[in-house]
Amino acid sequence: MWLMRQAGRYLPEYRALRAKAGSFLDLCFDPQRASEVTLQPVVRFDLDAAIIFSDILLVPHALGQRVDFVEGEGPRLEPLAATAVRGLDPEGITRRLQPVFDAVGLARSRLAPDKTLIGFCGAPWTVATYMIAGRGTVDQAAARRFVLLNESAFADLIERLVEASVGFLLGQIRAGARVVQIFDTWAGVLGEEAFEQWCVAPTKAIVERLRAAVPEARIIGFPKGAGLRLERYVAATGVDGVSIDWTVPLRFARDRLQPQVAVQGNLDPLILATGGGALDAAIDRILAGLGGGRFVFNLGHGVVPDTPVGNVERLVARVRRWRG
Ligand code: CP3
Repeated sequence: MWLMRQAGRYLPEYRALRAKAGSFLDLCFDPQRASEVTLQPVVRFDLDAAIIFSDILLVPHALGQRVDFVEGEGPRLEPLAATAVRGLDPEGITRRLQPVFDAVGLARSRLAPDKTLIGFCGAPWTVATYMIAGRGTVDQAAARRFVLLNESAFADLIERLVEASVGFLLGQIRAGARVVQIFDTWAGVLGEEAFEQWCVAPTKAIVERLRAAVPEARIIGFPKGAGLRLERYVAATGVDGVSIDWTVPLRFARDRLQPQVAVQGNLDPLILATGGGALDAAIDRILAGLGGGRFVFNLGHGVVPDTPVGNVERLVARVRRWRG
């Protein structure tokens, strides 16, 4: 059991350290502090895994795009023009991300041996949506239009992101991450063919290359919003585990996904933020639905900043009681 965005603003100890660290990027590139933030939720809640504190947008940053995190607004990037794709250079990216690998090594050395350390990257499609729009958007329209108008430049961008993601994940695995998760937060907006081309194929390429280099690496895919297409995603990409959002019916996950891979999920983060009896009922329902097979308890997306710490304590206690 662990929680996406388990280290973040809902934790007072995170806010305290964040205030000392300067900008969000400074914190990501400070191995000592990043490793400390990574451990905070494991220390407080005794979760089974830590996820390294970094961000999917460190990859565009390392590729040479300007990336800033604006307080209270989120990420801002210099929007990528089709003609600028050629200038993005995956060479040297792993050198620029060395502080993240150092943070992984430090976190691993400070974690108990029975705790798993998870590394991650954004999937090429999701990272591309931020690179093209220059910010988070509700419908990823800028990236979808870019594909329609500049398909060959887009294919080139995805290829470079596959290359960069393999380097980013391998660096984390070699530094001590035993599991990696590929976040495809915006997979759900892709049409049938686009889903194959821009979600399934690049993820499959990353998985194949990681396995060739480190056969024992364990890989979780998270194609958020993929719905029915999760079955195809799992069969085609070769991931070891799949993370499902809260819209996925548990019976579908149990019958169609769990026989193939481990399933992770899928509590609605807003139910966690709200708490009370509805939280208990939702937890019990997930455990009853998926607890009989290979299963990692998690949320269906990240912890939201206004989540009371007490609700997370309640969640962890309830899941533990079921295991016990
Ligand atoms: O899960 C964890 O605890 C590990 C840390 C983690 C962060 N970002 C730290 C973070 C992980 C796994 C991510 C992934 C990430 N980052 C994704 C994919 C998963 C998802 O949430 O959809 C995406 C799309 C991003 C890009 C990103 N980074 C956005 C849109 C934002 C702004 C929104 C927000 O929550 O503020 C960030 C900033 C960010 N990344 C924060 C954290 C803790 C908040 C920064 C702060 O402290 O001010």
